[in-house]
Amino acid sequence: MNKSKFTVTAALPYANGPLHLGHVAGVYLPADIFVRFLRSNGHDVAFICGSDEHGAAITLRAKKEGITPREIVDKYNQIIGDSFKQFGISFDIFHRTSAQIHIETAQDFFKVLEEKGKFIEETTEQYYDEEYQQFLADRYITGECPNCQNPNAYGDQCEKCGSALSPTDLKNPVSTLSGKSPVLRSTSHWFLPMDRHEEWLRPWIKEGILDGKQQHDPKAWRNQVIGQCMSWIDCGLHPRAMTRDLDWGVPVPLPGADGKVLYVWLDAPIGYISATKQWALDNGKDWKDYWCNEDRKLVHFIGKDNIVFHAIIFPILLKDHGGFILPDNVPAYEFLNLEGDKFSTSRNWAVWLHEYLERYPEKIDELKYTLTCIAPETKDAEFTWKEYQARVNNELADILGNFINRALVLTQKYYEGKVPACGELTAEDKQVLVDMKAIPARIAELVYQYKLRDAQAEAMMLARIGNKYLADNEPWKLVKTDPKRVETIMNIALQITANLGLVLDPFLPETAAKIRAFVGTEVQTWDKSGTILLQAGDQTSTPTILFQKIDDEFVAREVEFLHASQPVAETTFPPQKEETSFDDFTKMDIRLGTIIEAIRVPKADKLLQLTVNTGIDTRTIVSGIAEHYSPEEVVGKTVAVLMNLAPRKIRGVESQGMILMAENEEGKLSFMIPEKGFEAGGEIR
Ligand code: 2FM
Ligand code: ZN
Repeated sequence: MNKSKFTVTAALPYANGPLHLGHVAGVYLPADIFVRFLRSNGHDVAFICGSDEHGAAITLRAKKEGITPREIVDKYNQIIGDSFKQFGISFDIFHRTSAQIHIETAQDFFKVLEEKGKFIEETTEQYYDEEYQQFLADRYITGECPNCQNPNAYGDQCEKCGSALSPTDLKNPVSTLSGKSPVLRSTSHWFLPMDRHEEWLRPWIKEGILDGKQQHDPKAWRNQVIGQCMSWIDCGLHPRAMTRDLDWGVPVPLPGADGKVLYVWLDAPIGYISATKQWALDNGKDWKDYWCNEDRKLVHFIGKDNIVFHAIIFPILLKDHGGFILPDNVPAYEFLNLEGDKFSTSRNWAVWLHEYLERYPEKIDELKYTLTCIAPETKDAEFTWKEYQARVNNELADILGNFINRALVLTQKYYEGKVPACGELTAEDKQVLVDMKAIPARIAELVYQYKLRDAQAEAMMLARIGNKYLADNEPWKLVKTDPKRVETIMNIALQITANLGLVLDPFLPETAAKIRAFVGTEVQTWDKSGTILLQAGDQTSTPTILFQKIDDEFVAREVEFLHASQPVAETTFPPQKEETSFDDFTKMDIRLGTIIEAIRVPKADKLLQLTVNTGIDTRTIVSGIAEHYSPEEVVGKTVAVLMNLAPRKIRGVESQGMILMAENEEGKLSFMIPEKGFEAGGEIR
């Protein structure tokens, strides 16, 4: 590694809902492993995140929950931030884009681009919802994706194929506010002419070359990232609006821009910079060292739906502004599915991180381990509770836990916990020590290639080696015949144990800390890994069980919980009407009436003309029930009648009231007939 400084960002989660395991496996956990490794290996690193608090994702959620956008972002910033803390994601700062320092940073950034003439101001026709009197951008509009035909693509992006869209790209656009087709209206905005950037973007993305210099290693970029960017560029880049007509966001800092805010995909990535500024202020550092220093690598961990925003749009903005480094890598993750289906917030098909932590606060590393084993690095992956059980029981408990426990319990038993001396080494001992040395180097190589899944497997390999070493040598048998040899075996087993306390640290920090406490070592830097960490005579302690096995009931309970949390089946019944007062209700005079005569209304298929005895009079009521009842069927029936509805003429006949009917899901109508003994005239209240 020639550059030893890193600024690592993890995609700012929208503060519009809690985090689920898909988010964790596909951004935050791998970023955390990467950073923990870098820190251990002596790199200067800043790890930046925060919540993304603007954009339609927020305002639409606020509308749904019936509270203000401010209340929404405060609520979810807290929930998300707390979950990250409890789960041990080691951000240097978890900031928020509604902070004043962010608003100023984003506005200054925009002004620099505007002054440098990097935008074009244009009046164009944009979709508008006449009922809600609002322009429709981003998530306010949905329609069919022109690239993959997903019928539910958003106005700025298709989450299925990842392409970045404009509302006018969508086929059959529909407003998410009113559900109606929008109309076009003109409005003026600042556009980023992305088409002007194609020339430098191609070699930079494909070969890592910018201004004739090798900026990054394109082989380290995932194929999916390069592929998605190149296909977007090959389709031709177009000017993209960087402002919106909305009242929630960072105000456009220019005269005459009232009611306009910055586009959330301009605002949010600048959030990485403003968060770094806040952190630098709090810690006596210079933020420019993290963003403007050619010696530093900028790495963005993201999900695949964020690729073009981080690998094309943000780099254009950084370059246009000037003075900033461009990303060295954009490790993007595919999606994680859950028990055979996609994670879905609306269907509540999710394992929510804060709920998991509430139920199993002592099982943090069990979740980290499983999620890294199945991390969707190159293709979509799937989380099942059955696999979680298998990973915990067969790998964490049976291999890692078993090895650590054996090594330490035997040390207690034979040597009162003191590390025995190492005697003469056999060929097998030597090989084990060579393997112990080789593993950290392989882990490092894999981490620098962003292959964290393989890197964790490599770290676990050390536990497998230790387990096998003890199983093959059976010190518990040998101790009777060759206690000297057992001292050497146990010394080596304890060296492996101590090394596990170091190499597992980026992946399973809590477990690694426990192991270090058992063998009495401090946190060590990566350069010590693979070496002899314990001296003869060092004191170790009695271990506690590292991993409890997961039983079948646990799995059944979790799967059942998932199904039980599904919202009640979708209904086609209309939602409840607005609240009404008791006074208004009592104004209605509803009572029982008996139908004494019925005829069809000529030339009206749906109408019957009824003569009804209401107990106080006999009146005519025209009712739309002819498709459900014949005249013969209704005569003699006692039914509910709304008496004081203003009379109105229907097909020339004056109707003096209304018969109340029940309607089922298929639209079939039925009278509401009282029990026996209830006669015409009886009041309904
Ligand atoms: O897709 C998302 O959840 C966005 N909130 C990610 C933003 S990342 C960055 F640009 F801030
Ligand atoms: Zn698509």
